[in-house]
Amino acid sequence: MIHYPRTALAKELVAALQGKTVFSDAPNGLFLTAPRRTGKSTFLQADLKPALETLGVVVVYVDLWADQRRDPGVLIAEAIGQALRPHLGRLAKLAKSAGVEGVNLAGWLQINTSKIGTLDGATLSEALRALHETAKAPVALIVDEAQHALTSEMGEAAMAALKSARDQLNRPGAVTLMLVMSGSDRDKLLRLVTTNGAPFYGSQVHRMPMLGDDFMAHIAQLIETRQPKLKPVDREALLLAFQGFGCRPQFFMEALGNALSPLAGLTTRFEPAVLEAARQRQADEEAQMESDYLGLKPLERAVLWRLLEQGQRFRPYDGEALAFYQKKTGAAVTPQKTQNALEALRQRIPAMVWKSARGEYAVDDAAMHRWFETKVANNTWPPTERQREGV
Ligand SMILES: Nc1ncnc2c1ncn2[C@@H]1O[C@H](COP(=O)(O)OP(=O)(O)O)[C@@H](O)[C@H]1O
Ligand SMILES: [Mg+2]
Repeated sequence: MIHYPRTALAKELVAALQGKTVFSDAPNGLFLTAPRRTGKSTFLQADLKPALETLGVVVVYVDLWADQRRDPGVLIAEAIGQALRPHLGRLAKLAKSAGVEGVNLAGWLQINTSKIGTLDGATLSEALRALHETAKAPVALIVDEAQHALTSEMGEAAMAALKSARDQLNRPGAVTLMLVMSGSDRDKLLRLVTTNGAPFYGSQVHRMPMLGDDFMAHIAQLIETRQPKLKPVDREALLLAFQGFGCRPQFFMEALGNALSPLAGLTTRFEPAVLEAARQRQADEEAQMESDYLGLKPLERAVLWRLLEQGQRFRPYDGEALAFYQKKTGAAVTPQKTQNALEALRQRIPAMVWKSARGEYAVDDAAMHRWFETKVANNTWPPTERQREGV
């Protein structure tokens, strides 16, 4: 698997995090969103993390989707605890030389890193401070799929703790704690910064740029170097195909590999084959969403429809919503039945509905919105059994 380095983007974000970019709010926290599988985690780990480390920053990375069965609050605490572990000896020495009473180090010494996952928010910010003091370096905490923190109370508490740690550690012109939060779903990530009492109220959520032209130029060059007889590679066609794959490198590379393989037995150019694979993939994904939708019970369909239509305005149990479900299903619907339907949608594998600890709902996969909107625009919503059979 090749990795295309995104050095320029990493540099730009590092400067923003350090407060070197005028009018940028990044020193208060950098919030980045891009759809699933477009390269966020890869960029954060393979480009941004090393770029920060080169400058002597201690980087803690945690992916809240790495193990979805575990509490996101615990995952965050553990990642910080693990980063702190190599510094524990130094921490003890520091406390001794400063005189335990003199500084606040005594408190830090109580931190038992094996138990850190169960510690409360206050200790979490102490642990970050300890990490900064013992490493004698700025600390960057990268929380990947950060919106997932909102699905548990411990996760919410951890976010609040990070915010307070940031406020304690950072001074204008001196950024000691850098926070980077990424998410696959802009609407959900926005809940960290826009809703009432949101931990990072007032921060902006930025779209992370997708891989594009320069990535395709890199790929085209690779092909031309390895197989000179394919020169010149049609870069525009490749870019179109890549976009057709939703800018997801994995699917694109797979199709490219297939088209370039001698086993493909192509007698014509490979570019149209890659374009065709992109079209096919799109059609397959839509067919999958359609068949998932049609596999639902009537009330589950109606609730999902309402959620797709209302987005952030969705209120599952208000009068209008209940009337909507009733109209779509032809039967009386109670809040209890609605709640059961929502729960069933959440429990499916993969889940179709997402719920925050505060009881806010969203579709689990934001790609569903695009599918819904396209179908509405084409007057092909809702899907029907007839379409499913392809009649
Ligand atoms: N810069 C890159 N160059 C090559 N392949 C990449 C690059 N970024 C991501 N990929 C590939 O795309 C796939 C999805 O990337 P990932 O970082 O997991 O996406 P996300 O975190 O947005 O879901 C991975 O298989 C990865 O190898
Ligand atoms: Mg990821």
